Amino acid sequence: MEIIIKNSPEEASVLAARVIAKLVREKPNAVLGLATGSTPVRLYQELIRMHKEDGLSFREVRCFNLDEYVALPETHEQSYHYFMQQQLFAHIDVQAKNTLVPDGMAKDIPAHCADFEEQIKACGGIDIQVLGIGSDGHIAFNEPSSSFASRTRIKTLTEQTIEDNARFFEGDETQVPTHCITMGIGTIMEAKMNILLAFGEGKAEAIRETCEGPVSAMVPASILQHHQVAKIFLDDGASSKLKLKDYYEWVYKGKPEWQQDQ
Ligand code: F6R
Repeated sequence: MEIIIKNSPEEASVLAARVIAKLVREKPNAVLGLATGSTPVRLYQELIRMHKEDGLSFREVRCFNLDEYVALPETHEQSYHYFMQQQLFAHIDVQAKNTLVPDGMAKDIPAHCADFEEQIKACGGIDIQVLGIGSDGHIAFNEPSSSFASRTRIKTLTEQTIEDNARFFEGDETQVPTHCITMGIGTIMEAKMNILLAFGEGKAEAIRETCEGPVSAMVPASILQHHQVAKIFLDDGASSKLKLKDYYEWVYKGKPEWQQDQ
């Protein structure tokens, strides 16, 4: 795990965007795994800026999203389809046929999930997977106790996640869907690189457990300790409970310049 701590979410997001941009420049048909929620918004804004101002093209890039709510139509403002259009896809030159968000309206959910996995494989696997983290340690919607071997499937959200996400549904928990389709932890672990972003003190405990606690299905993100290339981008708040915070900052300061966006 490489833990990168910056003063602000903006600074951390710009750095994470540079890692993605480097890959896309080197491999124009890169395969990206994308997340939704409040955390990656600044990262997407920086990718949009790079597209508009620096000519970064996503024309051949393939995108797979981590998750989607079950029974929320694509047109619903809180669906992850809608989010991706608003926050990224509509502002870059990615082709619609190359963007795949799980279909929460699928009639046959197991068949849809199996097909989703097949499509990732057919593209040669995910090069970089972007992740946020839930305050309960979830990645994608793999809630505590999810199997580390899990694949794309239907999951039930925890009460904690429903409470956390109610802010997107006018604060009304009863409007938050109870089920979702999510990439599995096994799927995420097959990405060649994982980039996890976490901002704010509300994520500090989950980040402490993820980076410095035991690897446990009770903290799904902690499996990233076993991933070969996992980069954790944090701001001051999210890093505030790390025991070795000074060490991580020291390591980053000593990083040779050529390694900065790798
Ligand atoms: C969303 C996703 C979730 C979120 C997590 C944090 O695609 O995979 O795991 O990343 O719930 O959400 P925010 O960023 O809103 O705090």
